[in-house]
Amino acid sequence: MAEIIDGKAVASRIKEEVKACADRFEKLKGRKVGLAVVKAGDDPASAIYVRNKIKACEACNISSSSYYLDGNVTQLELTELIDALNADSNIDGILVQLPLPKHIDERAVLSRISPEKDADGFHVVNAGKLFLGEKTKFVACTPCGIIELIKSTGVDIRGKHAVVVGRSNIVGKPIAMLLLSNDATVTVCHSRTKDLAEITRTADILVAAVGKKHLITADMVKAGSIVIDVGMNRDESGLYGDVDFDGVKQVAGYITPVPGGVGPMTIAMLLRNTVNGALDE
Ligand code: GUN
Repeated sequence: MAEIIDGKAVASRIKEEVKACADRFEKLKGRKVGLAVVKAGDDPASAIYVRNKIKACEACNISSSSYYLDGNVTQLELTELIDALNADSNIDGILVQLPLPKHIDERAVLSRISPEKDADGFHVVNAGKLFLGEKTKFVACTPCGIIELIKSTGVDIRGKHAVVVGRSNIVGKPIAMLLLSNDATVTVCHSRTKDLAEITRTADILVAAVGKKHLITADMVKAGSIVIDVGMNRDESGLYGDVDFDGVKQVAGYITPVPGGVGPMTIAMLLRNTVNGALDE
């Protein structure tokens, strides 16, 4: 039976450290660390994520300012808002909640954010630094959180076979790079992968980030492995991961639950990025 990785507990330790840094910053600079949160449109899941991020800011002595734009916002309006936030010396981090409305060029918006205020690490410069193995203060939050969760098990990542299922810019690609820089042997699988189960069965570390309820079943998992579930699939009956938790926990060595696994870590890392960015001015 797998040990359950308690993302809430790990996140809460990190948030304590973040608050201590935010307190120190306030003493030093006479103002609070500031995070701007931008949301456009009315995606219900985004509304929940943003609410949780703002609540977490309050708990960590970070001042958040929110900008809720309607779904008809233009590219120019968004660009002008980002420019104003870039220029605002009270703002240390900018978060644009994804997805943006369909008519908006998302990449253009994300790379309009100053790379020095890129709390989410989605700017092309910070993503590029991650891929080149260069140091950057801003690495994508969910992947950073996943690495912390894996490390919390005490299992050494070096030399392990890590299989990432999903190739998105916000999870799949950056987690593959982080695992690689931690000396794992990394395989990235996706919707066109043949014989997915054959590959996942060889994983010492399996990261599922596809957005398909219970795609990963017990027969696809190696005994004793670490299984990280990034899925947040909502339907009428509740919130489900990409991993069939009840089945897989019988086989894996460690497993993250949904909710209470990766989700809280994403928020903790966002706050850590924001404070780190502020402290290094
Ligand atoms: N939408 C889904 N995950 C994320 C995330 O980590 N950051 C942002 N900004 N939007 C998201």
